[in-house]
Amino acid sequence: MSDTIWERYGGYGFVAKAVDDFYARVLLSRDLAPYFVNINMEKLVEHQIETIGAVMGGPYDLDIEVLRRSHARLKIKLAHFGEIAAILSLTLEDNGLTDADRDALMAVVASTRDAIVDPAELAP
Ligand code: HEM
Repeated sequence: MSDTIWERYGGYGFVAKAVDDFYARVLLSRDLAPYFVNINMEKLVEHQIETIGAVMGGPYDLDIEVLRRSHARLKIKLAHFGEIAAILSLTLEDNGLTDADRDALMAVVASTRDAIVDPAELAP
């Protein structure tokens, strides 16, 4: 058995398909779609492949500060982070990830929450 989730599922091709599938679903959400107006989706998909790839143990680095910077102006609501995470989890399930691999990946995604959500949403 291969060591990383990235290797086990076939690397770039698998992640590229899953990320395409993910954004198609995100854009169908009435709450989430407005965040993506006027965004260069081609560039976003490429960055997201690298980010999910990093989380899967692929040949990329996960840089929390880059995530913080690229989401800061969006003022993302906590509920919307939850919705995106749920869509990602379902997408990974539909693309064949085992529950154990999905749980491992989603735990890393959950750890990015405070860098992505509007700090005002997280204030006590
Ligand atoms: C769940 C964890 C998330 C991860 C791992 C993630 C990852 C990323 C990455 C890698 C980029 C590209 C950064 C760049 O181009 O420099 C990005 C951009 C973006 N993300 Fe996220 N994201 C997450 C959650 C969210 C949520 C919850 C929303 C909105 C509800 C969102 C909306 C956006 C938008 C609109 C951009 C484009 C920003 C721009 O180009 O100005 N993301 N995200």
